[in-house]
Amino acid sequence: MFKTRLCDILGIQYPIIQGGMVWICMHELTAAVSEAGGLGVLAGGSMTSEELAEEIRLTKSATKKPFGVNIPLLRPDAEILIDTTIAGGAAAVISSAGNPKRFTGKIQDAGLKVVHVSPNVGLAVKAETAGVDAVVGEGIEAGGHDGFDEITTMALIPQLVERLTVPVIAAGGIADGRGFAAALALGAQGVQMGTRFAATFEARAHIKFKEAIIGVGDTGTTVSARTLGPTRAVKNRLTEKIAEAERACVSKEDLFELIGEGRSRMASVDGDVQEGTVYCGQIGGLITGLMHAGDVVRETIEGAEKVVKELEAAARR
Ligand SMILES: Cc1cc2nc3c(=O)[nH]c(=O)nc-3n(C[C@H](O)[C@H](O)[C@H](O)COP(=O)(O)O)c2cc1C
Repeated sequence: MFKTRLCDILGIQYPIIQGGMVWICMHELTAAVSEAGGLGVLAGGSMTSEELAEEIRLTKSATKKPFGVNIPLLRPDAEILIDTTIAGGAAAVISSAGNPKRFTGKIQDAGLKVVHVSPNVGLAVKAETAGVDAVVGEGIEAGGHDGFDEITTMALIPQLVERLTVPVIAAGGIADGRGFAAALALGAQGVQMGTRFAATFEARAHIKFKEAIIGVGDTGTTVSARTLGPTRAVKNRLTEKIAEAERACVSKEDLFELIGEGRSRMASVDGDVQEGTVYCGQIGGLITGLMHAGDVVRETIEGAEKVVKELEAAARR
């Protein structure tokens, strides 16, 4: 059940991608997701080329199944990370934050697939024109950096499905079988989940970061830094300071200065969940405890099967 076109393209059993997450997705999480039949993804965004090469090596020693590497294309050394990914033998690049036109051909010529993350139809069409193999449509519910237009997953996915030929993958607000089934009902060929996988035993995040996700509730995240680039994270002292600065209409430069560098590392690695950025999606409110990443994959599929059976029964009544 649920073997979609995306499974054939990526060579995976279930159409579930573990979203790349800076500082968090190292070989333990990536290998666990791939072993369970999804696509595990290393977070290239927070690694040097040397670290990435080592994480690829460790992932390959833990699983023979396909895995990917997330590369934010705005990174000045994106091409070096791409070369490292190709040389290491990953199966796919999940590109985000930048123009996929520059590197898609090169990656595909080396035999890897390219999946690009887009927050709206226009950018997704550009990605398809650039030749990517699939597109992730990411709604404003998602943890991390979101699109300026703040389109919800529910509204975005069917519009992408109408316009694209390549498979669409839904991201933002999905953490179990119900969300998975809903995404497929909207026409998606698979899902990408981030927040749910951040709250797993295998995620390389500080325990305080994971606890912040588990305790977030339905109203505990906020979108800040709208002028620089909307970012969804847990409400904390930092997001309050940013909100105050935005209310005072400070310049982009001042806002940039206030946020400074290293806020994500501060939360994810050092566990400072007040002054650091705790990227977290709205679906964090559904997460009540840590799970093993493999169980997330299995329970998502089992949960979706149950939903489909219930819908079939309801349709027959
Ligand atoms: C802690 C965290 C870090 C993230 N870091 C990245 C990243 O480095 N690159 C990227 O493309 N997306 C990043 N994302 C987005 C995820 O890959 C994924 O698309 C998103 O989390 C899906 O929405 P969800 O949080 O509702 O599951 C991050 C998300 C979270 C929660």
